[in-house]
Amino acid sequence: MSADAETIATEGLIARRKRLLGPAYRLFYDEPVHLVRGEGVWLYDPAGRRYLDAYNNVASVGHCHPRVVEAIAKQAAVLNTHTRYLHETVLDLAERLLTTFPAEIGHVMFTCTGSEANDLALRIARTCTGGTGFIATETAYHGVTSALVDLSPSLGLPLSKDSAVRLVPPPRAAGDETGAVFARHVAAAFDDMKKAGIRPAGLIVDTIFSSDGVLADPAGFLQPVLDTVHAAGALFIADEVQPGFGRCGQMWGFARHGIVPDLVTMGKPMGNGHPVAGVAARPELLAEFGARSRYFNTFGGNPVSAAAALAVLDVITSEGLVENAGRTGTYLMGKLRALKGSYPLIAEIRGAGLFIGVELRHGGMTGAPALKQAGRIVNLLREDGVLISASGREANVLKIRPPLVFAPEHADLLVEKLEKALQAIVAG
Ligand SMILES: Cc1ncc(COP(=O)(O)O)c(C=O)c1O
Repeated sequence: MSADAETIATEGLIARRKRLLGPAYRLFYDEPVHLVRGEGVWLYDPAGRRYLDAYNNVASVGHCHPRVVEAIAKQAAVLNTHTRYLHETVLDLAERLLTTFPAEIGHVMFTCTGSEANDLALRIARTCTGGTGFIATETAYHGVTSALVDLSPSLGLPLSKDSAVRLVPPPRAAGDETGAVFARHVAAAFDDMKKAGIRPAGLIVDTIFSSDGVLADPAGFLQPVLDTVHAAGALFIADEVQPGFGRCGQMWGFARHGIVPDLVTMGKPMGNGHPVAGVAARPELLAEFGARSRYFNTFGGNPVSAAAALAVLDVITSEGLVENAGRTGTYLMGKLRALKGSYPLIAEIRGAGLFIGVELRHGGMTGAPALKQAGRIVNLLREDGVLISASGREANVLKIRPPLVFAPEHADLLVEKLEKALQAIVAG
Protein backbone atom coordinates (compact mmCIF):
# COMPACT_ATOMS: atom_id res chain seq x y z
CA MET A 1 0.00 0.00 0.00
CA SER A 2 1.38 3.47 -0.87
CA ALA A 3 1.83 6.04 1.88
CA ASP A 4 -1.10 8.04 0.46
CA ALA A 5 -3.37 4.99 0.39
CA GLU A 6 -2.35 4.19 3.97
CA THR A 7 -3.23 7.71 5.13
CA ILE A 8 -6.62 7.49 3.41
CA ALA A 9 -7.30 4.09 5.02
CA THR A 10 -6.33 5.40 8.50
CA GLU A 11 -8.51 8.49 8.11
CA GLY A 12 -11.39 6.27 7.01
CA LEU A 13 -11.03 4.13 10.15
CA ILE A 14 -10.90 7.19 12.41
CA ALA A 15 -14.06 8.63 10.84
CA ARG A 16 -15.84 5.26 11.12
CA ARG A 17 -14.85 4.99 14.79
CA LYS A 18 -16.23 8.45 15.50
CA ARG A 19 -19.46 7.66 13.67
CA LEU A 20 -19.97 4.31 15.42
CA LEU A 21 -18.42 4.67 18.88
CA GLY A 22 -19.20 8.31 19.57
CA PRO A 23 -16.95 11.06 20.94
CA ALA A 24 -15.86 9.72 24.36
CA TYR A 25 -13.04 7.49 23.10
CA ARG A 26 -9.46 8.70 22.64
CA LEU A 27 -6.66 7.45 20.41
CA PHE A 28 -2.94 7.46 21.17
CA TYR A 29 -0.49 9.55 19.11
CA ASP A 30 -0.83 12.43 16.62
CA GLU A 31 -0.88 9.74 13.94
CA PRO A 32 -2.93 6.90 15.46
CA VAL A 33 -1.52 3.39 15.04
CA HIS A 34 -3.58 0.66 13.39
CA LEU A 35 -2.47 -2.71 14.74
CA VAL A 36 -3.43 -6.05 13.28
CA ARG A 37 -1.05 -8.56 14.88
CA GLY A 38 1.20 -9.03 17.89
CA GLU A 39 3.93 -11.44 18.87
CA GLY A 40 6.18 -11.21 21.96
CA VAL A 41 7.29 -7.58 22.27
CA TRP A 42 6.36 -6.72 18.67
CA LEU A 43 3.20 -5.24 17.19
CA TYR A 44 2.47 -5.04 13.46
CA ASP A 45 0.40 -2.67 11.32
CA PRO A 46 -1.45 -3.67 8.12
CA ALA A 47 1.60 -2.78 5.97
CA GLY A 48 3.70 -5.23 8.02
CA ARG A 49 5.65 -2.41 9.76
CA ARG A 50 6.66 -3.51 13.22
CA TYR A 51 6.63 -1.53 16.44
CA LEU A 52 8.64 -2.31 19.56
CA ASP A 53 6.06 -2.40 22.35
CA ALA A 54 7.55 -0.61 25.35
CA TYR A 55 4.16 0.38 26.73
CA ASN A 56 1.61 -2.40 27.00
CA ASN A 57 1.43 -4.03 30.39
CA VAL A 58 -1.64 -6.14 29.57
CA ALA A 59 0.01 -8.56 27.16
CA SER A 60 2.48 -8.97 29.94
CA VAL A 61 3.92 -12.39 29.06
CA GLY A 62 4.19 -11.28 25.43
CA HIS A 63 1.55 -10.64 22.78
CA CYS A 64 -0.43 -13.76 21.84
CA HIS A 65 1.71 -16.10 23.96
CA PRO A 66 1.03 -19.58 22.49
CA ARG A 67 0.48 -21.21 25.91
CA VAL A 68 -2.17 -18.66 26.88
CA VAL A 69 -3.84 -18.86 23.47
CA GLU A 70 -3.89 -22.66 23.68
CA ALA A 71 -5.32 -22.67 27.23
CA ILE A 72 -8.14 -20.30 26.20
CA ALA A 73 -8.96 -22.27 23.02
CA LYS A 74 -8.87 -25.63 24.81
CA GLN A 75 -11.23 -24.59 27.61
CA ALA A 76 -13.54 -22.67 25.25
CA ALA A 77 -13.96 -25.85 23.22
CA VAL A 78 -15.10 -27.85 26.27
CA LEU A 79 -17.20 -25.67 28.59
CA ASN A 80 -17.72 -22.09 29.69
CA THR A 81 -20.16 -21.42 32.53
CA HIS A 82 -19.91 -19.45 35.78
CA THR A 83 -19.21 -19.71 39.49
CA ARG A 84 -22.68 -20.98 40.41
CA TYR A 85 -21.61 -24.40 39.19
CA LEU A 86 -18.79 -26.45 40.60
CA HIS A 87 -15.65 -26.28 38.48
CA GLU A 88 -12.05 -27.05 39.39
CA THR A 89 -10.21 -24.52 37.22
CA VAL A 90 -11.33 -21.46 39.21
CA LEU A 91 -10.24 -23.24 42.39
CA ASP A 92 -6.88 -24.18 40.87
CA LEU A 93 -6.43 -20.53 39.96
CA ALA A 94 -7.40 -19.31 43.44
CA GLU A 95 -5.04 -21.83 45.03
CA ARG A 96 -2.14 -20.85 42.78
CA LEU A 97 -2.74 -17.13 43.26
CA LEU A 98 -2.95 -17.42 47.03
CA THR A 99 0.51 -19.06 47.16
CA THR A 100 1.88 -15.74 45.83
CA PHE A 101 0.45 -13.73 48.77
CA PRO A 102 1.49 -13.43 52.41
CA ALA A 103 -0.29 -15.93 54.71
CA GLU A 104 -2.65 -13.22 56.03
CA ILE A 105 -4.37 -13.02 52.62
CA GLY A 106 -6.57 -16.11 52.44
CA HIS A 107 -9.33 -15.67 49.86
CA VAL A 108 -9.66 -14.41 46.31
CA MET A 109 -12.80 -13.33 44.45
CA PHE A 110 -13.02 -12.93 40.68
CA THR A 111 -14.24 -10.11 38.46
CA CYS A 112 -13.73 -9.23 34.78
CA THR A 113 -11.98 -5.85 35.03
CA GLY A 114 -9.77 -3.89 37.38
CA SER A 115 -12.59 -1.38 37.85
CA GLU A 116 -14.94 -4.11 39.04
CA ALA A 117 -12.23 -5.39 41.38
CA ASN A 118 -11.76 -1.93 42.90
CA ASP A 119 -15.51 -1.40 43.11
CA LEU A 120 -15.86 -4.68 44.99
CA ALA A 121 -12.97 -3.73 47.30
CA LEU A 122 -14.79 -0.47 48.14
CA ARG A 123 -17.97 -2.42 48.94
CA ILE A 124 -16.06 -4.78 51.22
CA ALA A 125 -14.33 -1.87 52.95
CA ARG A 126 -17.65 -0.05 53.47
CA THR A 127 -19.27 -3.17 54.89
CA CYS A 128 -16.41 -4.01 57.24
CA THR A 129 -15.71 -0.52 58.58
CA GLY A 130 -19.21 0.96 58.54
CA GLY A 131 -17.57 3.97 56.89
CA THR A 132 -17.97 5.68 53.53
CA GLY A 133 -14.86 7.88 53.33
CA PHE A 134 -12.02 6.95 50.98
CA ILE A 135 -8.67 8.55 50.21
CA ALA A 136 -6.73 8.43 46.92
CA THR A 137 -3.78 10.34 45.52
CA GLU A 138 -4.11 13.55 43.49
CA THR A 139 -3.55 12.09 40.01
CA ALA A 140 -4.71 8.55 40.70
CA TYR A 141 -6.69 6.34 38.36
CA HIS A 142 -8.65 3.43 39.79
CA GLY A 143 -11.37 2.75 37.25
CA VAL A 144 -14.53 3.55 35.38
CA THR A 145 -17.45 2.89 37.73
CA SER A 146 -19.43 5.75 39.30
CA ALA A 147 -18.03 4.85 42.71
CA LEU A 148 -14.48 5.11 41.35
CA VAL A 149 -14.74 8.36 39.41
CA ASP A 150 -14.03 10.52 42.49
CA LEU A 151 -11.11 8.22 43.30
CA SER A 152 -9.74 8.71 39.76
CA PRO A 153 -8.83 12.42 39.66
CA SER A 154 -6.62 11.85 36.61
CA LEU A 155 -9.91 11.90 34.67
CA GLY A 156 -9.97 15.63 35.40
CA LEU A 157 -13.48 15.80 36.88
CA PRO A 158 -14.02 17.95 39.98
CA LEU A 159 -15.08 16.27 43.25
CA SER A 160 -18.72 16.84 44.10
CA LYS A 161 -19.25 19.20 47.09
CA ASP A 162 -20.51 16.47 49.41
CA SER A 163 -18.06 13.81 48.21
CA ALA A 164 -16.79 11.41 50.88
CA VAL A 165 -13.48 11.23 48.99
CA ARG A 166 -10.34 13.12 50.01
CA LEU A 167 -7.33 13.48 47.72
CA VAL A 168 -3.77 13.64 49.01
CA PRO A 169 -0.45 14.55 47.34
CA PRO A 170 1.32 11.42 46.12
CA PRO A 171 4.47 10.27 47.93
CA ARG A 172 7.09 12.27 46.01
CA ALA A 173 10.64 11.33 46.92
CA ALA A 174 11.68 13.14 50.09
CA GLY A 175 14.42 10.61 50.93
CA ASP A 176 13.84 8.79 54.21
CA GLU A 177 10.97 11.17 54.99
CA THR A 178 8.85 10.09 51.98
CA GLY A 179 6.75 7.63 53.97
CA ALA A 180 6.31 9.88 57.00
CA VAL A 181 5.22 12.84 54.85
CA PHE A 182 2.71 10.69 52.96
CA ALA A 183 1.35 9.27 56.23
CA ARG A 184 0.89 12.83 57.56
CA HIS A 185 -1.11 13.83 54.47
CA VAL A 186 -3.31 10.76 54.85
CA ALA A 187 -3.83 11.37 58.60
CA ALA A 188 -4.86 14.99 57.88
CA ALA A 189 -7.31 13.81 55.21
CA PHE A 190 -8.92 11.32 57.64
CA ASP A 191 -9.20 14.12 60.24
CA ASP A 192 -10.84 16.36 57.67
CA MET A 193 -13.31 13.59 56.82
CA LYS A 194 -14.20 13.07 60.47
CA LYS A 195 -14.78 16.82 60.92
CA ALA A 196 -17.30 16.61 58.07
CA GLY A 197 -19.05 13.72 59.84
CA ILE A 198 -17.72 11.11 57.41
CA ARG A 199 -16.52 7.83 58.85
CA PRO A 200 -13.28 6.55 57.23
CA ALA A 201 -13.48 3.37 55.16
CA GLY A 202 -10.18 3.14 53.32
CA LEU A 203 -7.11 4.35 51.48
CA ILE A 204 -6.65 3.08 47.94
CA VAL A 205 -3.23 3.35 46.28
CA ASP A 206 -1.65 2.01 43.13
CA THR A 207 1.57 0.73 44.70
CA ILE A 208 3.75 2.08 41.84
CA PHE A 209 1.69 5.32 41.56
CA SER A 210 1.55 4.95 37.76
CA SER A 211 -0.67 7.90 36.89
CA ASP A 212 0.95 10.05 39.59
CA GLY A 213 4.12 9.79 37.49
CA VAL A 214 5.68 6.43 38.58
CA LEU A 215 6.81 6.85 42.19
CA ALA A 216 8.95 3.98 43.38
CA ASP A 217 11.56 5.27 45.83
CA PRO A 218 12.56 4.57 48.46
CA ALA A 219 11.11 1.06 48.66
CA GLY A 220 9.29 0.69 51.98
CA PHE A 221 7.72 4.16 51.98
CA LEU A 222 4.20 2.72 52.33
CA GLN A 223 4.98 1.29 55.77
CA PRO A 224 4.10 4.31 57.95
CA VAL A 225 0.78 4.93 56.20
CA LEU A 226 -0.47 1.41 56.92
CA ASP A 227 -0.58 2.21 60.66
CA THR A 228 -2.21 5.57 59.94
CA VAL A 229 -4.98 3.87 57.96
CA HIS A 230 -5.63 1.29 60.67
CA ALA A 231 -5.55 3.91 63.44
CA ALA A 232 -8.39 5.69 61.61
CA GLY A 233 -10.42 2.45 61.60
CA ALA A 234 -10.02 2.17 57.81
CA LEU A 235 -8.64 -0.47 55.43
CA PHE A 236 -5.63 -0.39 53.12
CA ILE A 237 -6.50 -1.30 49.53
CA ALA A 238 -3.46 -2.04 47.35
CA ASP A 239 -4.41 -1.55 43.70
CA GLU A 240 -2.06 -3.97 41.92
CA VAL A 241 -3.78 -3.61 38.54
CA GLN A 242 -0.61 -2.00 37.11
CA PRO A 243 2.28 -3.10 39.35
CA GLY A 244 1.12 -6.68 39.96
CA PHE A 245 2.17 -9.97 38.35
CA GLY A 246 5.91 -9.36 38.43
CA ARG A 247 6.19 -6.01 36.70
CA CYS A 248 8.19 -4.34 39.47
CA GLY A 249 10.66 -7.21 39.91
CA GLN A 250 8.54 -8.85 42.61
CA MET A 251 5.22 -10.61 42.16
CA TRP A 252 3.33 -7.75 43.87
CA GLY A 253 4.14 -4.05 44.13
CA PHE A 254 3.19 -3.93 47.83
CA ALA A 255 5.93 -6.50 48.56
CA ARG A 256 8.54 -3.83 47.71
CA HIS A 257 7.20 -1.93 50.71
CA GLY A 258 7.23 -4.87 53.14
CA ILE A 259 3.55 -4.44 53.98
CA VAL A 260 0.51 -6.71 54.02
CA PRO A 261 -2.56 -4.84 52.70
CA ASP A 262 -6.10 -5.64 53.81
CA LEU A 263 -7.39 -5.93 50.25
CA VAL A 264 -5.45 -6.39 47.02
CA THR A 265 -7.00 -5.74 43.61
CA MET A 266 -5.59 -7.08 40.36
CA GLY A 267 -6.42 -7.15 36.65
CA LYS A 268 -4.73 -6.02 33.42
CA PRO A 269 -1.87 -8.57 32.99
CA MET A 270 -3.77 -11.35 34.76
CA GLY A 271 -5.15 -12.91 31.53
CA ASN A 272 -2.57 -11.46 29.11
CA GLY A 273 -5.39 -9.60 27.32
CA HIS A 274 -8.27 -11.88 28.25
CA PRO A 275 -10.53 -9.94 30.69
CA VAL A 276 -9.98 -11.44 34.11
CA ALA A 277 -9.43 -9.60 37.39
CA GLY A 278 -10.01 -10.06 41.10
CA VAL A 279 -9.73 -9.08 44.76
CA ALA A 280 -7.61 -10.93 47.30
CA ALA A 281 -8.51 -10.32 50.94
CA ARG A 282 -7.94 -11.14 54.55
CA PRO A 283 -10.48 -13.91 55.36
CA GLU A 284 -11.93 -12.05 58.35
CA LEU A 285 -13.04 -9.27 56.01
CA LEU A 286 -14.80 -11.63 53.64
CA ALA A 287 -16.39 -13.41 56.61
CA GLU A 288 -18.04 -10.11 57.49
CA PHE A 289 -18.86 -9.20 53.88
CA GLY A 290 -20.19 -12.68 53.05
CA ALA A 291 -22.42 -12.68 56.13
CA ARG A 292 -24.14 -9.54 54.89
CA SER A 293 -23.84 -9.67 51.09
CA ARG A 294 -23.89 -12.11 48.24
CA TYR A 295 -21.69 -11.78 45.23
CA PHE A 296 -22.20 -13.10 41.73
CA ASN A 297 -20.45 -11.85 38.64
CA THR A 298 -21.71 -13.58 35.48
CA PHE A 299 -18.34 -13.70 33.74
CA GLY A 300 -16.01 -13.29 36.72
CA GLY A 301 -14.14 -16.54 37.38
CA ASN A 302 -15.57 -18.42 34.38
CA PRO A 303 -13.57 -21.51 33.34
CA VAL A 304 -12.10 -19.92 30.19
CA SER A 305 -10.89 -16.84 32.08
CA ALA A 306 -9.54 -19.03 34.87
CA ALA A 307 -7.67 -21.16 32.32
CA ALA A 308 -6.16 -18.03 30.75
CA ALA A 309 -5.02 -16.72 34.14
CA LEU A 310 -3.56 -20.09 35.13
CA ALA A 311 -1.59 -20.19 31.87
CA VAL A 312 -0.26 -16.69 32.60
CA LEU A 313 0.95 -17.82 36.03
CA ASP A 314 2.58 -20.88 34.41
CA VAL A 315 4.44 -18.74 31.89
CA ILE A 316 5.53 -16.21 34.52
CA THR A 317 7.10 -19.06 36.50
CA SER A 318 8.50 -21.21 33.70
CA GLU A 319 10.04 -18.27 31.82
CA GLY A 320 11.35 -16.57 34.98
CA LEU A 321 9.57 -13.33 34.08
CA VAL A 322 9.62 -11.77 37.56
CA GLU A 323 13.38 -12.17 37.61
CA ASN A 324 13.61 -10.89 34.03
CA ALA A 325 11.62 -7.79 34.95
CA GLY A 326 14.13 -7.09 37.73
CA ARG A 327 17.20 -7.86 35.62
CA THR A 328 16.21 -6.20 32.35
CA GLY A 329 14.62 -3.32 34.26
CA THR A 330 17.93 -2.64 36.04
CA TYR A 331 19.79 -2.86 32.72
CA LEU A 332 17.37 -0.44 31.03
CA MET A 333 17.40 1.97 33.96
CA GLY A 334 21.24 1.97 33.86
CA LYS A 335 21.23 2.85 30.16
CA LEU A 336 18.64 5.61 30.71
CA ARG A 337 20.69 7.03 33.57
CA ALA A 338 23.72 7.12 31.26
CA LEU A 339 21.65 9.24 28.81
CA LYS A 340 20.69 11.68 31.57
CA GLY A 341 24.24 13.13 31.68
CA SER A 342 24.02 14.28 28.04
CA TYR A 343 20.41 15.53 28.03
CA PRO A 344 19.58 18.06 30.79
CA LEU A 345 15.89 17.79 29.83
CA ILE A 346 15.91 14.48 31.75
CA ALA A 347 15.32 15.60 35.33
CA GLU A 348 14.84 12.23 37.01
CA ILE A 349 14.58 8.54 36.22
CA ARG A 350 12.49 6.41 38.57
CA GLY A 351 11.07 2.96 38.60
CA ALA A 352 11.10 -0.63 39.69
CA GLY A 353 11.60 -3.60 37.40
CA LEU A 354 10.04 -2.96 34.01
CA PHE A 355 8.01 0.05 35.13
CA ILE A 356 10.07 3.16 34.49
CA GLY A 357 9.25 6.86 34.48
CA VAL A 358 11.57 9.44 32.86
CA GLU A 359 10.61 12.89 34.15
CA LEU A 360 11.32 15.76 31.76
CA ARG A 361 11.78 19.29 33.10
CA HIS A 362 13.59 22.48 32.08
CA GLY A 363 16.39 22.90 34.63
CA GLY A 364 16.18 19.87 36.91
CA MET A 365 13.46 18.75 39.31
CA THR A 366 12.63 22.29 40.40
CA GLY A 367 12.25 23.50 36.79
CA ALA A 368 9.10 23.80 34.69
CA PRO A 369 7.57 20.53 33.43
CA ALA A 370 8.52 19.79 29.81
CA LEU A 371 5.03 18.74 28.78
CA LYS A 372 5.35 19.67 25.07
CA GLN A 373 8.70 17.93 24.74
CA ALA A 374 7.35 14.76 26.41
CA GLY A 375 4.47 14.67 23.91
CA ARG A 376 6.85 15.27 21.01
CA ILE A 377 9.19 12.47 22.11
CA VAL A 378 6.27 10.02 22.44
CA ASN A 379 5.20 10.89 18.88
CA LEU A 380 8.74 10.85 17.43
CA LEU A 381 9.26 7.38 18.90
CA ARG A 382 5.98 6.20 17.44
CA GLU A 383 7.11 7.42 13.99
CA ASP A 384 10.36 5.55 14.54
CA GLY A 385 8.60 2.30 15.49
CA VAL A 386 8.69 2.37 19.30
CA LEU A 387 5.57 2.67 21.47
CA ILE A 388 5.64 4.45 24.84
CA SER A 389 3.40 7.05 26.54
CA ALA A 390 3.52 9.86 29.10
CA SER A 391 1.97 10.20 32.57
CA GLY A 392 2.01 12.33 35.73
CA ARG A 393 0.01 15.43 36.73
CA GLU A 394 1.71 17.50 34.01
CA ALA A 395 2.02 14.59 31.52
CA ASN A 396 5.77 15.22 31.48
CA VAL A 397 6.90 11.75 32.59
CA LEU A 398 7.74 9.27 29.83
CA LYS A 399 6.07 6.02 30.81
CA ILE A 400 8.00 2.89 29.86
CA ARG A 401 6.19 -0.34 30.71
CA PRO A 402 6.90 -3.10 28.18
CA PRO A 403 5.76 -6.72 28.18
CA LEU A 404 7.83 -8.66 30.72
CA VAL A 405 9.57 -10.66 27.97
CA PHE A 406 11.55 -7.49 27.13
CA ALA A 407 15.22 -8.43 26.70
CA PRO A 408 18.43 -6.33 26.85
CA GLU A 409 18.50 -6.12 23.01
CA HIS A 410 15.04 -4.49 23.13
CA ALA A 411 16.23 -2.10 25.85
CA ASP A 412 19.21 -1.17 23.61
CA LEU A 413 16.90 -0.42 20.69
CA LEU A 414 14.54 1.64 22.86
CA VAL A 415 17.38 3.74 24.29
CA GLU A 416 18.96 4.23 20.85
CA LYS A 417 15.67 5.56 19.45
CA LEU A 418 14.98 7.65 22.55
CA GLU A 419 18.38 9.30 22.15
CA LYS A 420 17.54 10.03 18.50
CA ALA A 421 14.28 11.69 19.62
CA LEU A 422 16.10 13.70 22.30
CA GLN A 423 18.61 14.88 19.68
CA ALA A 424 15.73 16.03 17.46
CA ILE A 425 14.31 18.02 20.42
CA VAL A 426 17.70 19.62 21.12
CA ALA A 427 18.04 20.49 17.40
CA GLY A 428 14.65 22.30 17.72
C1 LIG B 1 -4.17 1.46 38.69
C2 LIG B 1 -5.40 1.05 37.95
N1 LIG B 1 -6.45 0.56 38.63
C3 LIG B 1 -7.57 0.18 38.01
C4 LIG B 1 -7.73 0.28 36.65
C5 LIG B 1 -9.01 -0.12 35.98
O1 LIG B 1 -8.85 -1.31 35.31
P1 LIG B 1 -9.84 -1.68 34.09
O2 LIG B 1 -9.54 -0.76 32.97
O3 LIG B 1 -9.50 -3.12 33.79
O4 LIG B 1 -11.24 -1.54 34.58
C6 LIG B 1 -6.65 0.78 35.90
C7 LIG B 1 -6.77 0.89 34.42
O5 LIG B 1 -6.02 1.55 33.74
C8 LIG B 1 -5.46 1.16 36.56
O6 LIG B 1 -4.43 1.65 35.88
